[in-house]
Amino acid sequence: MNDLQRLGRYDRTRSYAWNYEHVPDLVEMPVREVSGDWQFCDRPVPSPLGISAGPLLNGKWCLYYAGLGFDVLTYKTVRSREHVCHPLPNLQPVANGQLTGSESEVQTSDRMQGSWAVSFGMPSQDPQVWRRDVEQTRARLSSEKLLSVSVVGTIQDGWSIAELAEDYACCARWAIESGADAVETNFSCPNVTTCDGQLYLSPEDSKQVAERVRSTIGSVPYILKIGHIPSREAAMALLEAVGHVVDALALTNSIATMVRDSQQRLMYGSQKRGICGAAIRETSIAQIRMMRELITERNLPLHLVGVGGISSAEHLRAYLAAGAQMCHLATAPMVNPEVGLDIRNDFQCGPR
Ligand SMILES: Cc1cc2nc3c(=O)[nH]c(=O)nc-3n(C[C@H](O)[C@H](O)[C@H](O)COP(=O)(O)O)c2cc1C
Repeated sequence: MNDLQRLGRYDRTRSYAWNYEHVPDLVEMPVREVSGDWQFCDRPVPSPLGISAGPLLNGKWCLYYAGLGFDVLTYKTVRSREHVCHPLPNLQPVANGQLTGSESEVQTSDRMQGSWAVSFGMPSQDPQVWRRDVEQTRARLSSEKLLSVSVVGTIQDGWSIAELAEDYACCARWAIESGADAVETNFSCPNVTTCDGQLYLSPEDSKQVAERVRSTIGSVPYILKIGHIPSREAAMALLEAVGHVVDALALTNSIATMVRDSQQRLMYGSQKRGICGAAIRETSIAQIRMMRELITERNLPLHLVGVGGISSAEHLRAYLAAGAQMCHLATAPMVNPEVGLDIRNDFQCGPR
């Protein structure tokens, strides 16, 4: 049996709750150093490799992937109150063709080829649980690695944007108090029907929430996670709104479409789900390139975290060349937990 077969991973046939409890044992694998000076929001890090919000359900998952070559660990999005997960399937494999953002639907696949529809609805443990867990995780994580905590506001009936901003800020404050090195706010979950899933498409609301979070966390690195931006104008408007508020933008969360199964029925009550993995790579790289051009034109002090479909050193190089400083992965390390180690080995070889 080789190492790949031995390494544990998320079981998509089981629930979020089951996977929360069943974390693979830590492994000791040789981790190759990555040459170069790498930074995450001006903090030195050993490599540009991180895990984006999603695979790391709790601190044990963070520590597992920290041992597998990842240097920035993003704790899966948490809330100011406990929140249940959507029913299975939370991870539905889909056909692998590259998506542009204009598709209304994708077809399921009976096997995982690299892309899936993600349907969790941002579940969260009670804050007492995640705050204690973040604290213990930071204490156990080696000092050169960074722990970023992703947070989202939980909008209630009748709430104003100011109240939603307060809820985001409350989670961000708790994350920092628990020892997080950075805070990420998710403005882009496509599978919630409330406005917190679409925040990044409203520059004014984004600005208000981001400013409230910034005033709460002071100079702690602040990353804003966004979804697919439909146009250069929309990107410009967002940058004008938040470009001086946050330290980095992480993109692309996913590309949202409806999902049609093999019986030709629309899944998930005909609602859209975020497609993640290989199918969003080309578009995500193009989004990074567009953002980098606009950031340079405006001389904004913004870093970019490239997210979407990364599973090789070649993909990493493509994101860095397009203007990202860091690259975060979700799907590939869930499918192949060794992918970070492989990328580190191949990245040393230089451009191919
Ligand atoms: C299992 C899973 C859970 C996710 N949960 C979150 C989440 O809680 N918050 C978030 O901002 N993004 C979440 N995402 C999106 C990822 O952070 C990432 O943006 C997306 O998967 C694209 O990267 P990939 O192509 O490497 O998977 C999740 C993705 C996956 C696969």
